[in-house]
Amino acid sequence: MNIILLGPPGAGKGTQAARLVEHHGMRQLSTGDMLRAAVKAQTPVGLEAKAIMERGELVSDEIVSKLIDAELTAMGPDVGAIFDGYPRTAAQAEQLDAILARHGRKLDHVIELEVDEDALVERIIGRFTCANCGAGYHDIYKLPKVAGVCDKCGSTEFKRRPDDNEETVRTRMAEYRAKTAPILPIYDARGIVTRIDGMAAIDTVTDRIEQVLAS
Ligand code: AP5
Repeated sequence: MNIILLGPPGAGKGTQAARLVEHHGMRQLSTGDMLRAAVKAQTPVGLEAKAIMERGELVSDEIVSKLIDAELTAMGPDVGAIFDGYPRTAAQAEQLDAILARHGRKLDHVIELEVDEDALVERIIGRFTCANCGAGYHDIYKLPKVAGVCDKCGSTEFKRRPDDNEETVRTRMAEYRAKTAPILPIYDARGIVTRIDGMAAIDTVTDRIEQVLAS
């Protein structure tokens, strides 16, 4: 199965993708994660992407589509893909169609997480992850069970994303409204979009996504 998780920054795409990976053995293809890894490794892609990401703007379509194509090639044909944060423009949506066709895959579902933007700013600014295993937490909604210790791996090191400040988040949201939301009609026309209330509790959102995958 191949699915796209769509929604503005902080809608919960990464949170839900991680659960699908755990429950179904699918692979999460997050262009944001791939770009952050490239920035950390200081690859040519990372050097080009760093300042763009810090401003909250979009990296070029060609770069992200090449990253996705390479990941699908490395995965092989039998593992389901969760596209998280990709496609983000009409050009990327077109490129994804071509990439999937080359890999003999088809899109099964597009899930849009519908959310209230002002609440998202709070969600994003409070977000942090385990520096060792990447487990996600939140200052208000999801603290580690033991303060300062990762539930999953026991690490005591945590980190926050450099683009998780209010100014950059507002730019990321404006980019979503201007360039990403307009691609939904492409998938609506194919009858594969399901809209889910992303303001519901994390478990409730997961249950709704599971219903869609089972349908
Ligand atoms: P990317 O990494 O994709 O970031 P994003 O789309 O801005 O999304 P986030 O990761 O911020 O949010 P999310 O929806 O995954 O929410 P999460 O689950 O973490 O992109 C970063 C940058 O890279 C872009 O700005 C761009 O520069 C570049 N880029 C990436 N892809 C690109 C592309 N295709 N083309 C061009 N450029 C690209 O949840 C957020 C918080 O809320 C967490 O703390 C979580 O615990 C909490 N939470 C989640 N769900 C709920 C809930 N239901 N209730 C309460 N709390 C919740």
